Amino acid sequence: MRIVMVGFGVVGRALAERFIADQNYLASNFGLKPRVVAVADTSGALVNERGVDLKKALDAKRRLGSLAKGMPDEVKPLSSSELLDELDYDVLVETTPTNIVDGEPGLTHVKKALSMGKSVVTTNKGPLAIALPALLELAERNGALLRFSGTVGGGTPILDFGRMCLSGDRVVKVEGILNGTTNYILTRMYKGGLSFEEALKEAQDAGYAERDPTMDVEGYDTACKLVIIANYVMGLKVTLRDVRIKGIRDVTYDVLKRLGESGKTIKLLGVIDGEGLVVEPREVSLTDPLCVWGTLNAVTFHTEHLGSETIVGKGAGGIETAIAVIRDLIAVKRFLMRGLGG
Ligand code: HSE
Repeated sequence: MRIVMVGFGVVGRALAERFIADQNYLASNFGLKPRVVAVADTSGALVNERGVDLKKALDAKRRLGSLAKGMPDEVKPLSSSELLDELDYDVLVETTPTNIVDGEPGLTHVKKALSMGKSVVTTNKGPLAIALPALLELAERNGALLRFSGTVGGGTPILDFGRMCLSGDRVVKVEGILNGTTNYILTRMYKGGLSFEEALKEAQDAGYAERDPTMDVEGYDTACKLVIIANYVMGLKVTLRDVRIKGIRDVTYDVLKRLGESGKTIKLLGVIDGEGLVVEPREVSLTDPLCVWGTLNAVTFHTEHLGSETIVGKGAGGIETAIAVIRDLIAVKRFLMRGLGG
């Protein structure tokens, strides 16, 4: 499988490491033989039809912070869009950072690949939150597959759990803790007696929250993930504009303490039900399976016949998200094989 990797940050590098370490395992268990024909970061691209030397690329990035600085003689000053125009490949792995204002640069990359009939695996929530219904249509029209397991729940297979395990039934409501940073903050406030500001600082120092934590604490990250679940699991054609969003800045230790005395706490929930899509702090019983702590994510799918099913797991992390990308690449491989009558 010829792969173009656009984005070589935490997730891209973790993926390259898995490709190297698990080469034999992936080939013998899943028939997945990734050949990375290009790796691009913002400084330029390494291109090799026979396969980029990932060990050298990782080393260069680790030592000097960019491909161009680490391998100046080998990196081509190509933009990612030029790369996608010029190269022959089977799948684009897009791991550039999320931008919810206009989805760029990921949106252009994803659209370009899909419109050329190339399948795409992405961990970038921006393009999906802004344009998932249109992107799914574009993929279908061009005979390509668009996969994005790593956008929700890191490596925890929340999307496939919702769609595959519950198929045959009807999902009528979804409730989830979809952001590890805010769950960490609320946990430290509830269990450690910290103020919001103290807990946020701790989350930043531990590397959970972004330096600009607006995406997390104001609920936008949860809203992006909710949009993706709504489209993928429930077949709704919605975007970020359809979500009512409120973050956790107003939650206080006093309120949490009082609720705790009656067996409840507050979690930042993303909810999809008959009322639409909402992100807001809501009361949750301490005995509810959704009531997980620390940086964990949890999603409950309420269905018409099976009742309620909850999936819990780590919602972020380089290796975890890289595993989700590999899961998606295996799905793309099967998809491409079907096209060949396999
Ligand atoms: N900032 C996100 C979180 C990372 O805290 O869950 C994963 O999307």
